[in-house]
Amino acid sequence: VFAAETTGELRKVDNVAHRGATGYAPENTIAAFDKGVEMKADYIEIDVQRSKDGELVIIHDNTVDRTTDGTGYVKDLTFEQIRSLDAGSWKGEQFTGEKIPTFDEILDRYHGKTGILIELKSPELYPGIEGQVAQKLKERNLDKPQNEKIIIQSFNFESMKITNSLLPKVPIGVLTSNRAHTTEQALKEFSTYADYFNPSYGIVSKELVDQVHSLGMKIQSWTVRSHEAAQFLLDMNVDGIITDYPDYVDPRK
Ligand code: G3P
Ligand code: CA
Repeated sequence: VFAAETTGELRKVDNVAHRGATGYAPENTIAAFDKGVEMKADYIEIDVQRSKDGELVIIHDNTVDRTTDGTGYVKDLTFEQIRSLDAGSWKGEQFTGEKIPTFDEILDRYHGKTGILIELKSPELYPGIEGQVAQKLKERNLDKPQNEKIIIQSFNFESMKITNSLLPKVPIGVLTSNRAHTTEQALKEFSTYADYFNPSYGIVSKELVDQVHSLGMKIQSWTVRSHEAAQFLLDMNVDGIITDYPDYVDPRK
């Protein structure tokens, strides 16, 4: 958290390491999440999907092709197959041997150390994943957000409605880069189950931020990869900045 000064007033802005500190380490690996923590991010953002045999794993794309030395859909590979892949060397030799983490590992390693912004990635490919995620949080007593910084978000709004009913105390976010989702009517509907409206920064305006706030929601925006984008979002008065470079969003630097 850092304090941003707008109109003489200090306010808190959450610094969220997107897939970890992705600017400095291979996305969605322990190396990237550790780097995010080291850089004092308030949250790490993770993408959750599921192996063929039911293990929840942390990877962004629906296939392993771009970020590992393997090929194929995550949903068609067993956990053993997924775990044998190298998820680091595509980003640089020094990261050779990084593995695709499990959701369990992330919860156990980081809860209490930093917040976790959990994205359910393409939940339509993984029937029942909302219940699995809810179970993992409940097992660890992480469904009581007064103790833990946990948020669950998705581009799939139906999945977020289900998640909200399974985990009524955990803050829910909706993700979009579609302006059609910024109408008064759309925002009102989101506010019936979501606590965060999280748009790409291309559709952010002061008016949008004010509207989201007046409906009682917060707004975190993505994906910052430049100092200019970070400054733009600070000026827009957002509540959180989701960035590949956690060091870009600290206005004291
Ligand atoms: O947290 C927001 C952001 O992660 C959504 O886009 O494609 O990076 O998952 P994507
Ligand atoms: Ca994501």
